[in-house]
Amino acid sequence: MCGIIGISSNKPVSANIINSLKKLEYRGYDSAGIATLSDGEIYEVKSEGRVDNLENNFDLKNLRGNIGIGHVRWATHGIPNSLNAHPHSSHNVSVVHNGIIENSTILKKYLINKGHNFKSQTDTEVIVHLITEHLKTSDLEEAITKTLKQLHGSFALGIVFKDMPNLIVGARRGSPLAVGYGPNENYLGSDSYALKSMTNKITYLDDGEFCVVKKDQVVFFNENGKKVNKKILELSSDEANYDKGDFKHFMAKEIEEQPITIKTGIKEYVDNLNKDINIFNFPWKTKEIKSITLVGCGTAYHSCLMAKYWFEELTTLDVNTDIASEFRYRKNRFKKDNLYIFVSQSGETADTYAALDLCNKNSMKTCAVVNVIESSIARDSKFVLPIHCGPEIGVASTKAFLGQILVLYLLVLKLGSLRNEIKIRDYQEKIKDLKDLPELIEKTLLHDNDIQAISLTFNEAKGSMFLGRGFSYPIALEGALKLKELSYVHAEGYPAGEMKHGPLALIEEGMPVVVLAPRDNYYKKTISNMQEVIARGAKVLLITNKSKDEVVSENIWETIEVEHTNDDLLPFLLTIPLQKLAYYSALKKGYDIDKPRNLAKSVTVE
Ligand code: G6P
Repeated sequence: MCGIIGISSNKPVSANIINSLKKLEYRGYDSAGIATLSDGEIYEVKSEGRVDNLENNFDLKNLRGNIGIGHVRWATHGIPNSLNAHPHSSHNVSVVHNGIIENSTILKKYLINKGHNFKSQTDTEVIVHLITEHLKTSDLEEAITKTLKQLHGSFALGIVFKDMPNLIVGARRGSPLAVGYGPNENYLGSDSYALKSMTNKITYLDDGEFCVVKKDQVVFFNENGKKVNKKILELSSDEANYDKGDFKHFMAKEIEEQPITIKTGIKEYVDNLNKDINIFNFPWKTKEIKSITLVGCGTAYHSCLMAKYWFEELTTLDVNTDIASEFRYRKNRFKKDNLYIFVSQSGETADTYAALDLCNKNSMKTCAVVNVIESSIARDSKFVLPIHCGPEIGVASTKAFLGQILVLYLLVLKLGSLRNEIKIRDYQEKIKDLKDLPELIEKTLLHDNDIQAISLTFNEAKGSMFLGRGFSYPIALEGALKLKELSYVHAEGYPAGEMKHGPLALIEEGMPVVVLAPRDNYYKKTISNMQEVIARGAKVLLITNKSKDEVVSENIWETIEVEHTNDDLLPFLLTIPLQKLAYYSALKKGYDIDKPRNLAKSVTVE
């Protein structure tokens, strides 16, 4: 999952390429590079690390050329250094690539036998040399078609040519790629986000297609090199969301934005007047659906798990959850009466997309819960439920998680009501309770100094555990994921009742353990499990909700009480202190909160 940008213009392009690359850093940030064409030469600059490094290491302002490509990398083949950074170039072709070429070893051998020299450890370099080789005997379109046919795996490509100084070629299979249209210039980008500061007119390439981008013209071709016509889409503008404002980090901003996230979601979906949920255009009869499979990765997978608990509590549907990278290769028994729900913030996660694609190929009912409505997952699902969160920039997902679980909860309620499994009174009561949720989140966000102090203990420990039962179990998993991805402290989320079957052996004197025990049906059971870890020396941070009954339990290290609401909605509130715990823990350590090491926001490789 790397970021690609290409610009063909009537003026120098390096400054705009740099700006776009900075926006694309959410896709990878272990190296960056640019190639421009000027005076019949390819000028290539690349650096290890962030785009800032590239700017510091080279005089980019004086990098000439009205046409160029740029790249930010998340390493797959070859260590993240400047040699392996993109673009990769031969004497006449320069390539930026997102994806993985699975047959690169075989292709490399073939090309070395033909006399090509390789400089890097990447899979990408074979593309450069294949094109160079085919251009000896073929014209441009033919050389590209032949090259793409030889590549196995996934790719989005941006290619410039020393001998064709007025064009960029873009190509896509598996990984997303968009073309943008501007005044006297046209663009190529991994996604619309990279292009939005320059244009809101976009065309997405479909799998197998390639395009030739000139400053005043873009031509598209299918996988056989035949010209195709494509639609131009107009995107909405939400530039303001790409600004940190007064916040130190996007993550801090996005945590604080959650009352708005929920308010917007409620506004979009809830009809307070009629006490109903506006999911009307559901393309299938609800009685046709007997079971549900929810698929996602990372935080989005935790949303799936959360929805499973709600579906089972409020409907009679059979529910399965699956991690997308597992789903796509298992021998799934596809069932016509199953609804497959794909949850993804970006809508571009390669594993989730592949799982969706598999379902589409088997003519299944597919539904997407996404943030980016122009994304591949949204476009290729039969039914889309947007979460309306606005751009989420911090790599660790926060507001998108709350947005996802809100929309999934509304879907559960709607299906439950349509199937007559939730009584109308309960349905309306639950809709009414939602109204207060933004304010309850706002109040929960006020826990700040206490969490800052608590985070010190988590930083000093070797590791920590996050425990919960029932509705709180997916939240425990999410809390542990947040802490490990941001502060690089080992953290494990576990069902509280399962500790005695192994993980209890990990508990030693002073180990911080978060116990999520809201006053729901699981409360007493979780409190007993909490005592089991306290008895073995754990320092327990109990997170519960306010109640007139005091917590009757001894030796708890710290307690945080979130607001009181109905059991279904408690997971929203329990999430907040865990996000803040991870944030403050990483802040104290001085880590890069918005771009944790080794990670990327949008994972467009397997
Ligand atoms: C990456 C991000 C996670 C995210 C996951 C799924 O690993 O770092 O924060 O949860 O991808 O992303 P998606 O865009 O599909 O929700």
